Amino acid sequence: MHLDDNNEEFRTDILKGLSNPIQKSVPSKYLYDNRGSYLFEQITVQPEYYPTRTENSILEEYSDKILQNIPKEIILIEMGSGSSKKTKHLFDTILKRQDKLYYFPIDISFNFLDSVVTDLETQNENIMIKGIPNDYINGIKDCNNILFENNFKFDSFSRIIIFFGSSIGNFEIDEARDFLKAVRLNMNDKDYLLVGFDLIKDQFLIEPAYNDKAGYTAQFNLNLLTRMNRELGCNFDLREYVHYAFFNKEKDRIEMHLKSISDQEVRILGYDKIFHISRGETIHTENSYKYSEDKIQRLVIRSGLSIEKIFSDNNNWFNLVLLKPC
Ligand code: AVI
Repeated sequence: MHLDDNNEEFRTDILKGLSNPIQKSVPSKYLYDNRGSYLFEQITVQPEYYPTRTENSILEEYSDKILQNIPKEIILIEMGSGSSKKTKHLFDTILKRQDKLYYFPIDISFNFLDSVVTDLETQNENIMIKGIPNDYINGIKDCNNILFENNFKFDSFSRIIIFFGSSIGNFEIDEARDFLKAVRLNMNDKDYLLVGFDLIKDQFLIEPAYNDKAGYTAQFNLNLLTRMNRELGCNFDLREYVHYAFFNKEKDRIEMHLKSISDQEVRILGYDKIFHISRGETIHTENSYKYSEDKIQRLVIRSGLSIEKIFSDNNNWFNLVLLKPC
């Protein structure tokens, strides 16, 4: 079996995560290979998964208001752009006020990004799209370099950096604060940051969103084992694990795990150590933090950003928060 050298970081992270004696874990970013990205898109259209359609309804209703305070020509940068579907509302609103729009979708799922960019290009000739296959912060740096190399005058436009989908909830709280700071460092004073936050609500609404009846979230979670088998030569037996997701009330977060239904021994190709996984033991694969307005305010303090405006849906399930440098 041939293993790609680029997988060194993946291997190191998995070795570390599976070696933790208290709780085995795998960083959630590894959920998004090609199949993972496809499965996530399926999750977003499941009836139980309210975040996508709720955020979409806010954009549908408030795109005009969101952009109203931004007088300059707009350039859009989207971190973790995925299918770019929700961004369409902003495209339409922006193109009512300017002839052309430069749009930089940033995503680590390279092939997926490629096909989305090709689709978008054929749909609207007034949108100039440059897909950036990178992680979030390096992706913003890439955009800045491209604009600089193409002699864009930085004070003649505002960039809106968007981070939809409540992906900020997949960071630990400290990481989320550091992330906001890092984004701020790559912004100019006239730029804006638009972030989606899923809000704390009844667990009977949240838990089904991560346990959809059609089973896409389960497949999305289990796909991580398929990926480790394929890319790291692991020997996970997929029939021996089940998807397990619940709302941890103390931490205001959904936890996603893979639970073993038998005692097992797992190996990673080229590495001597055997990992014992007992029946009932779990591998923690993702956290999805839910926020309150108060928690959002506290998160933003000392990030170098301030809240310009908060947009919400009728049920107050989700917030879109417009931030600007302070
Ligand atoms: C990408 N992210 C915001 C999703 C969430 O809701 O935390 C990932 C996800 N995991 C399971 N379902 C969706």
